[in-house]
Amino acid sequence: MRIIVAKDYNELSKKAASILAGQILLKSNSVLGLATGSTPIGTYQELVRMYREGIIDFEEIVTFNLDEYYSLPRSNEQSYYYFMNEHLFQHINIRNENVHIPNGITRDIESECKRYEEEIKKTGGIDFQLLGIGRNGHIGFNEPDVKFEAVTHLVTLDQDTIDANARFFDDPKDVPHKAISMGIKTIMHSKKIMLLASGSEKAKTIYGMIHGNITPELPASILQLHPEATVILDEAAAELL
Ligand code: F6R
Repeated sequence: MRIIVAKDYNELSKKAASILAGQILLKSNSVLGLATGSTPIGTYQELVRMYREGIIDFEEIVTFNLDEYYSLPRSNEQSYYYFMNEHLFQHINIRNENVHIPNGITRDIESECKRYEEEIKKTGGIDFQLLGIGRNGHIGFNEPDVKFEAVTHLVTLDQDTIDANARFFDDPKDVPHKAISMGIKTIMHSKKIMLLASGSEKAKTIYGMIHGNITPELPASILQLHPEATVILDEAAAELL
């Protein structure tokens, strides 16, 4: 694991965006795995800036999002589809058909999960996966468990995750309790992985992820085994290292 400590959130976002931009410049048809949540917002802003300045181009880029809430339609402002448009897709020249996000309102979860895995395979696999991390160590929505869930699946969110995500909803009661998420194997098959974490509320989890045992009880600890994993932290998230 390569660990980079940035001074603050702003510097973290700039570093993350420049590494992603490097990937896009080296391979213009890269398959990118993308995350939502607060952490990557600054990175997306930087990418949009670089696109506007003509430094990077998304014409041939293909994306797969890690997850989507189960039961929220794409038009719902809290859906991850909406989030991605708001923070990235509507500002860049990505093609609609190259954007993939699990369908949160599917009637047939099993086929939707299978379809998602097959779509990823068809592109040749994810070249570069961007990750955030939950306070409980989740990546995607792979919550602490007794085993690592392998592929895209329906997840019941932990109370801690529901509480953490309530800040985005007008009424905390509206936070969905389920989501469709890529599995740990899907994530680990990515050629490169970059995890971002900001703020002291993540510090204990980051310490465990880097120095603790590899265990499904802290799902992000599996990244210790990935040969091309980079972790970018701000000083607050790195304070216990
Ligand atoms: C989002 C995702 C989650 C978040 C994590 C951290 O697509 O998969 O794992 O990355 O919950 O969220 P923030 O960045 O809001 O702390």
